[in-house]
Amino acid sequence: MSFKSSQIPLIAAACAAMLTLGAMPTASMFPKPEMFSHWKAPHSASRHKNPIPINAQSISAGESIFTQNCVACHGANAKGDGPTGAFLSPHPANLTTAKFWKQTDGAIFWKITHGKSPMPSFQDSLSRKQRWEVIDYLRHAFGPK
Ligand code: HEC
Repeated sequence: MSFKSSQIPLIAAACAAMLTLGAMPTASMFPKPEMFSHWKAPHSASRHKNPIPINAQSISAGESIFTQNCVACHGANAKGDGPTGAFLSPHPANLTTAKFWKQTDGAIFWKITHGKSPMPSFQDSLSRKQRWEVIDYLRHAFGPK
């Protein structure tokens, strides 16, 4: 790693601040490459087929699950602009883009199940059926037509 001379006072100040706080400046304090990479589900999870067909019942169940559990962050139109989402880093994902819908329901299911800070895991708070239903609703309302 090399620094421009103009950066050295800044780096020194940052290290001094960390030492004052009793922390050693270690590599873990610098951003890791995975923080910038796309959140990807494992291949095995991506292959899971959605067992709940999209119909009036799953759409309406999924919509209320989305409203109660996701809208605060992702916004009612799923663009990632919910009221709480504005304060989060990274910002909640836009669930309406073509790029988002390139992934399988299995991959989306895995992400909802496990979460990724600041998004919580829904493994315990939503049943498997509810996690598939919210995907049915999202695909119906915001997926490619
Ligand atoms: C506390 C805020 C919060 C809540 C609540 C939340 N999310 Fe998220 N969600 C996020 C954030 C932030 C990301 C982006 C994470 C990242 O990329 O590092 C995200 C990402 C996602 C992704 C992955 C997007 C991609 O590009 O593949 C999906 C799918 C998703 N959320 C669905 C949901 C669903 C469905 C719910 C409700 C059951 C929900 N989220 C609830 C904050 C939230």
